[in-house]
Amino acid sequence: MGYFVTFEGVEGCGKTTQIRLLSKLLSSRGLNTILTREPGGCPIADKIRTILLDADNRALSPLAELMLYGAARAQHVSEVIAPALNARNIVLCDRFSDATVAYQSFGRGLDRTVIDTLNLHACQGVTPDLTVLVDCDPNVGLERARRRIDATSGPREERFELEELSFHTRVRTGYMQLAAEEPGRFIVVDGANKIDVISAEISRLVIDRIPETLHAVC
Ligand SMILES: Nc1ncnc2c1ncn2[C@@H]1O[C@H](COP(=O)(O)OP(=O)(O)OP(=O)(O)O)[C@@H](O)[C@H]1O
Ligand SMILES: [Mg+2]
Repeated sequence: MGYFVTFEGVEGCGKTTQIRLLSKLLSSRGLNTILTREPGGCPIADKIRTILLDADNRALSPLAELMLYGAARAQHVSEVIAPALNARNIVLCDRFSDATVAYQSFGRGLDRTVIDTLNLHACQGVTPDLTVLVDCDPNVGLERARRRIDATSGPREERFELEELSFHTRVRTGYMQLAAEEPGRFIVVDGANKIDVISAEISRLVIDRIPETLHAVC
């Protein structure tokens, strides 16, 4: 088996920035690394992503939203993540199952047991070996995310950015609770630091945890 690393945190905390830097570093060291993201990561799940992040879909109900995340994850796991892990790759995924607990349970208020059950089925036995939580004040993250969205052409994926601050604060609390529940799986880094400082910390902590057998190609 390979090694599965997920990145989590509130909007704009720096997940995509950091996961790309880590992916480049691991690849430059000769490690077989696959970078993917949720929602999405394969053509069918990317179509579901469009529905989930489209700000015009304000009427999407919390339960329908949850089911769409489950559907996208089931497809992504069977089409991309599980085969890549079976082929002994290091898989880096920008958001995964913890996001559904943080956003749909802590954020939206859905029953956690329903979400845990859905995740259990959607993940099909795949669980993260390591999760990097980029912790960040939602005020800071939202400001960064809005600036990035304004500067980017193409569809404005901002349905969550438009949620009120209290929603994002609950999401942050949810993530911190998940990290406290499984301290062995989570690494928590301070997203308020400079990009290169965070990157150096993540690289050091992640490389230490990657099994020796996967370093063999170096
Ligand atoms: N530590 C940082 N300090 C300042 N700016 C940052 C930092 N990390 C990322 N940024 C910038 O903030 C913006 C958001 O970063 P990024 O897209 O990596 O966040 P994200 O967590 O992936 O956001 P989203 O939840 O919307 O996917 C980008 O323009 C990025 O360049
Ligand atoms: Mg991102």
